[in-house]
Amino acid sequence: MSIEATHAEALTPAVPRPAAIHPAWVRITHWINALAMLVMIGSGWQIYNASPLFPFAFPPAITLGGWLAGALLWHFAAMWLLAVNGLVYVALGLATGRFRRKLVPIRPGEVLSDAKAALTGKLAHDDLSVYNAVQKLLYVGVILAGIVIILSGLAIWKPVQLQELTAVFGGYDAARYVHFFAMAAIVGFLVVHVVMAVLVPKSLRAMITGR
Ligand code: HEM
Ligand code: HEM
Repeated sequence: MSIEATHAEALTPAVPRPAAIHPAWVRITHWINALAMLVMIGSGWQIYNASPLFPFAFPPAITLGGWLAGALLWHFAAMWLLAVNGLVYVALGLATGRFRRKLVPIRPGEVLSDAKAALTGKLAHDDLSVYNAVQKLLYVGVILAGIVIILSGLAIWKPVQLQELTAVFGGYDAARYVHFFAMAAIVGFLVVHVVMAVLVPKSLRAMITGR
């Protein structure tokens, strides 16, 4: 290679690799969360069946743990994974500015127009690094539901030691209902979320490989 060529190469500014759509910490915490949530939902449904709050039970085939004690073991094991992983995600989301850049502001007018565009098939998903207003609302909502389900879970796990927390929810029985409805909100989110992840081209790949 001639001296000139080497020189020219050295002078060519390196083309910067475009930043990943989702950095590694988002992808790792996202998938740990997905696994922990599925375990919490499956075992929670089994716990529910032992003493249903409403006149229905979850089909045993989609529950985890086999019976009440087995389900409680799963629930109390995966709660550590869920809570520690969730803390890491929220701490990094705040510290790196990701939440500020990607999840806010949420303007009601934009939520309405984006929801309308989505329902009429006119919402663009071409730039996966920018969330539309409906996505922002749903992501912030599910993060808040995650916080509520952890706090209400702690309130019904240790109602004596954490009685102030249990009192915040209006007592043990009310905390149980809060815990249940937070689960329903998360499951509702999950259904829409997984359908969208499958329908929107490349979004699933971006959450796995980052690009
Ligand atoms: C730190 C996190 C959590 C803790 C400490 C926790 C704790 C508990 C406890 C102690 C119970 C038993 C309540 C009873 O005896 O009736 C329970 C029930 C349940 N949990 Fe959790 N939980 C947590 C997270 C979750 C998550 C993430 C989900 C699902 C998304 C979930 C879904 C349920 C359901 C459906 C029940 C049965 C509801 C009932 O009938 O009371 N939990 N949880
Ligand atoms: C197996 C089920 C799941 C699949 C296939 C999935 C897939 C995805 C994909 C493809 C994205 C990026 C999509 C986009 O660009 O908007 C994403 C982001 C996200 N997912 Fe999931 N997900 C799953 C479970 C969950 C669960 C259980 C939760 C929470 C309860 C969750 C919460 C989120 C949040 C908050 C984001 C935005 C993350 C950020 O940008 O910081 N996902 N998911």
